[in-house]
Amino acid sequence: MAPGSHPPKTSREIRLKRYPPGMPTRDDFDLVEVTLPDLADGQMVVRNIAMSVDPYMRGRMTGARDSYVPPFELGQPLLGEAVGQVVASRDGTYPVGAYVTSMLGWREAFVAAGDQLSPVDGKAAPLTAYLGVLGMPGHTAYGGLLRYGQPKRGQTVFVSGAAGAVGSVVCQVAKIKGCQVIGSAGGPEKTKWLKEVAGVDHVIDYKAVSDLGAELKRLAPDGIDIYFENVGGAHLEAALDNMKVHGRIIMCGMIGAYNARTPGPPNLMRIVRRRLTVQGILFLDLQDMGPDFELDMPRWIAEGRVKWHETVFEGIEKAPDAFLGLFNGANLGKMIVRLGPDK
Ligand SMILES: NC(=O)c1ccc[n+]([C@@H]2O[C@H](COP(=O)([O-])OP(=O)(O)OC[C@H]3O[C@@H](n4cnc5c(N)ncnc54)[C@H](OP(=O)(O)O)[C@@H]3O)[C@@H](O)[C@H]2O)c1
Repeated sequence: MAPGSHPPKTSREIRLKRYPPGMPTRDDFDLVEVTLPDLADGQMVVRNIAMSVDPYMRGRMTGARDSYVPPFELGQPLLGEAVGQVVASRDGTYPVGAYVTSMLGWREAFVAAGDQLSPVDGKAAPLTAYLGVLGMPGHTAYGGLLRYGQPKRGQTVFVSGAAGAVGSVVCQVAKIKGCQVIGSAGGPEKTKWLKEVAGVDHVIDYKAVSDLGAELKRLAPDGIDIYFENVGGAHLEAALDNMKVHGRIIMCGMIGAYNARTPGPPNLMRIVRRRLTVQGILFLDLQDMGPDFELDMPRWIAEGRVKWHETVFEGIEKAPDAFLGLFNGANLGKMIVRLGPDK
């Protein structure tokens, strides 16, 4: 057993009560206490230290089965990335004290077999970073930009959702590649962080400008080479109006459209006239870039070339609030729910 910690006998978890038709509310979630089963051979008890909430989870809170991931099951605990510590073990691979990541978030503790866990050493950064800059969002940003954006020195990159988990890494990787970066985010705290900490060249507070397209034109009079899309709606419309001929648009997500059916931008014809390449991306397709990502990102962090920020909600009961906060901009950097101390 890890020093100072006792294997829990119970765990609290968040379950989905119903599929929300529009913007989810607190009432769509239940907090339930469960008794953990006794350990069988090859099993471990893992105490979660922190869990992630991510925009993609909204796509699983629907009965529709047209996505690349299946819907969450009603009345069952939600699933998602988490980092935790083994606190009891009947398995040789993961001894007591080992740190692990899993897809078994949204709960305080769980019993699992080794094939549901991955080891994490926590050497490059605090454990929560493995849910953000060193985890799925960072990997998506790195792989999406480098593979499909092919950024070159001197090119202009526009990033929406720039102060979020993915966007903040895209901005900084583009800077490392020698690009001019324009980031868009909502509110002065986010724009200040992007400029002063992340070193973004030009920052737009999209909530404070009346004409996003005109602002982009002012900041990039010769046009945009690469647009990294996280948001959709007015951002996509403004980017399309300002793309260079043969520019590239990387469609990572459209969070502005996750809770409502919104019409697409009226200027899609720009894709034809400007001969743009538009590429949808998925983290799962970028797995082959894992070894490069795992070399580059810890090094860039150690060199101070990539910075990250976390917004932390405390306690499993706050997980729905943290999730809902993604849709009103409550997070600067990665949204994290802390469930217990690191050690
Ligand atoms: N394709 C993939 O494999 C993959 C993997 C990871 C993430 N993604 C996508 O990447 C995007 C960013 O994800 P993330 O994890 O980094 O989230 P995030 O940016 O850390 O958090 C969401 C942010 O989106 C912004 N936002 C929310 N509603 C908005 C709206 N209606 N209009 C404009 N901005 C809005 C808010 O920032 P502001 O305060 O700045 O508005 C909010 O803080 C999402 O679209 C997500 O689905 C895709």
